[in-house]
Amino acid sequence: MKRIVLVGATDGLGKALAEYYAGQGCWVTILGRNPAKLDALVADLRARFKTATVNGVPCDLLNAAEREPAYRKAIEVTGHCDVFFYVAGLLRPSDGATNRWEDDGPMVEVNFTAAVHLLGLAANDFRVARRGTIVGISSIAGDRGRKLNPAYGAAKAALTTFLEALRNRLAPFGVQVSTVKPGYLSTRMTAGKAGVFWSAPAEVAARTIAERVAKGHEVFYVYRRWALVGLVLKLVPRFLFKRVGPP
Ligand SMILES: NC(=O)c1ccc[n+]([C@@H]2O[C@H](COP(=O)([O-])OP(=O)(O)OC[C@H]3O[C@@H](n4cnc5c(N)ncnc54)[C@H](OP(=O)(O)O)[C@@H]3O)[C@@H](O)[C@H]2O)c1
Repeated sequence: MKRIVLVGATDGLGKALAEYYAGQGCWVTILGRNPAKLDALVADLRARFKTATVNGVPCDLLNAAEREPAYRKAIEVTGHCDVFFYVAGLLRPSDGATNRWEDDGPMVEVNFTAAVHLLGLAANDFRVARRGTIVGISSIAGDRGRKLNPAYGAAKAALTTFLEALRNRLAPFGVQVSTVKPGYLSTRMTAGKAGVFWSAPAEVAARTIAERVAKGHEVFYVYRRWALVGLVLKLVPRFLFKRVGPP
């Protein structure tokens, strides 16, 4: 039975990934910050997918002291882990002009610092075991410095670089590291937001991500057309990006 650990998976894409892997009869362990929401999801998945084994481990990623014990518990529960996902993300609203540490601090913590903590622990274990797959959900928002939400974009850029470094470090040990830049997803994160297009339903994104990860893809977008957008964004000269770049 394939063993999957999903960090930050009580909503949106993470929840859809949990449903996908439970539907495949996998052993799914979910880390989530809200115990009631986590318990409800675990009970729902157990009821719907009888061949799967589903567990929940409470963990608020903003609390550094909770992270390593939650990781150890998740690995202890499953015995080992085949695919370790860091899906959690936090996007706080921004007025596009003011930097607010009350929002920027938690965004950096959830989107990057906690990812370094937990993916680092998984990377150490997978290197010793000489197997396993690590997946980080990053974002096209990290490809250029965009004015709307600098802290979110910068945290995702740092996550992308961290994942690339882990990939290069772990390749000799037979460990796969995949970076996903999903493009827009139809989840709570984009609900009611202007300028959202080519939005993928969470279930479609989850299935696509799981299939590409299984095929060994290292860096990918959910809809391939986002790769072209990513390329164009990277090629726009700095002076032009400053004037007409996207928010
Ligand atoms: N939506 C998009 O268009 C889009 C585009 C590019 C990249 N992404 C990335 O895709 C990933 C999934 O996003 P989504 O759209 O599914 O967002 P979402 O629906 O808001 O889900 C975010 C998940 O992260 C969890 N989380 C947030 N803070 C946490 C904390 N302190 N401790 C534990 N868990 C925490 C949430 O837990 P709760 O259920 O308790 O709230 C939730 O399960 C994120 O990394 C996001 O940055 C999304």
